[in-house]
Amino acid sequence: MGFEDLSYLWENGIRSRKISRVNLEEGAYLYKVVAELKSPLIVEIGTSHGGTTKLLQEANILGTIITLDLELIDIKTELNITRTHLIKTNSTEVDTEVFVKEIGEVDLLFIDGNHLFEGVKADWDNWNKAVKVEGHIIFHDCYIARKKYLTVIDLIKELKKKEIIGKQYIEKPAVASLCHLRKVE
Ligand SMILES: C[S@@+](CC[C@H](N)C(=O)[O-])C[C@H]1O[C@@H](n2cnc3c(N)ncnc32)[C@H](O)[C@@H]1O
Repeated sequence: MGFEDLSYLWENGIRSRKISRVNLEEGAYLYKVVAELKSPLIVEIGTSHGGTTKLLQEANILGTIITLDLELIDIKTELNITRTHLIKTNSTEVDTEVFVKEIGEVDLLFIDGNHLFEGVKADWDNWNKAVKVEGHIIFHDCYIARKKYLTVIDLIKELKKKEIIGKQYIEKPAVASLCHLRKVE
């Protein structure tokens, strides 16, 4: 299914988010990255109403998509979710060593679950080691700073300060609120 067939996931207008919680520009970027991967194993943290799940599924017909959420909404029929595994779980409680042994190393990890610093850090700590060298990690809502509490952007700052981004990961140019890292070692 081409990106143009997925336009119903958004609505016209400044914010454009509808079923999908990424905006149109972010959706187009995510679609392009996924479409260029060869038979990728993709893990999505944060399914919600399945907007990005559907996009990940349709962007690459050879992909295997595993999407995790604390609560699963029944999106299979409405969005014709066929090749995707929907799992109701806390992403931070998945044993990622077992995951890699049994399912494989992850080609693309899309992190769009808990957006608070402690939550997204727990996802990073648990899942970044499951991503293969040359693999991708994409965070959503990354460039929205809050005054009263720490969020995704503060994790990115910390990873840069510790030179984890810079040495182990390189950062690709940002697209809207997506932060795209590529694992290099
Ligand atoms: C912003 S929504 C995801 C939106 C979706 N990716 C999209 O763009 O269509 C965030 C989701 O993450 C889930 N979530 C939050 N913390 C989580 C955790 N620790 N494990 C799994 N899912 C989590 C929430 O239940 C919520 O449905």
